[in-house]
Amino acid sequence: MSALVGLFDSGLGGLTVLRRLQERYPHSSCLYLGDTARVPYGQRSAAEIRAIAAEVVAWLRHQQVGVLVMACNTSNALALDVAVAEAGVPVVGLIDSVAAELDSDCVGVLATPATANSGAYRRAIHACHPHAQVLEVGCPAFVPLIEAGDLQDPALEREALAYLAPLLAAGVDTVVMGCTHYPMLRSLLAGLLPPHVRLVDPAASAVRRLGPLLASMGGMPEGELGGVEVVPPALRTRVCVSGQAGAFAEAASRWLGYRPAVERVDLRSVA
Ligand code: DGL
Repeated sequence: MSALVGLFDSGLGGLTVLRRLQERYPHSSCLYLGDTARVPYGQRSAAEIRAIAAEVVAWLRHQQVGVLVMACNTSNALALDVAVAEAGVPVVGLIDSVAAELDSDCVGVLATPATANSGAYRRAIHACHPHAQVLEVGCPAFVPLIEAGDLQDPALEREALAYLAPLLAAGVDTVVMGCTHYPMLRSLLAGLLPPHVRLVDPAASAVRRLGPLLASMGGMPEGELGGVEVVPPALRTRVCVSGQAGAFAEAASRWLGYRPAVERVDLRSVA
């Protein structure tokens, strides 16, 4: 029996992490929490983001997760210490995971305003690559537009061009999607970048880091499924939200490839 993996985000974004996780570890059992009653996080104060993280992680701990994946860069940037203190189980972050794997002289980071202003990406990248140039750009328009559901909205391209302009002017060789909602814009962003610029999703690094942890907790690492029947993800995944369940199920099906049964939960019920 493998450990229950808990993931949380403000809304849909963390599903991009969940999907990668389930692709790589098809045997894993996951509990996803979208704090949709409070989305977006990225324009809140550090104090609010830390208080929210404490509440959400306490709820996840109460559900007996065995490992926690920060599927939200904003919480990771401003409240990793809160999550570690509250979780009581190992915590895997996106920011440290990707910083350790980057190989770049000039990195651009697209992120929520709270993440960009925190300087968390710059610190994490400099800890591994002291000479890399790091530019962090806050992208306030992206999350509300993505949550609204129309990825063809012309405002997305207009805003993307404006956010990428300073990075391209600085000659970045890598652009990190420093918010878990942004991989939903991957094809738009890739189309606006010159071919030599790498577009990086930190979830790939975080999910790789999770492997040894799952293995040490009795789960099977990827590629060692021989003879084990894989239960479909819909049956191994519990999806919960703090806001409206129906709308989330509809939007989530686009990213997960199946329509999850979504439960509305009261995060204060364990306080
Ligand atoms: N998807 C989250 C992140 O990675 C939060 C976005 C938001 O709610 O503003 O930062």
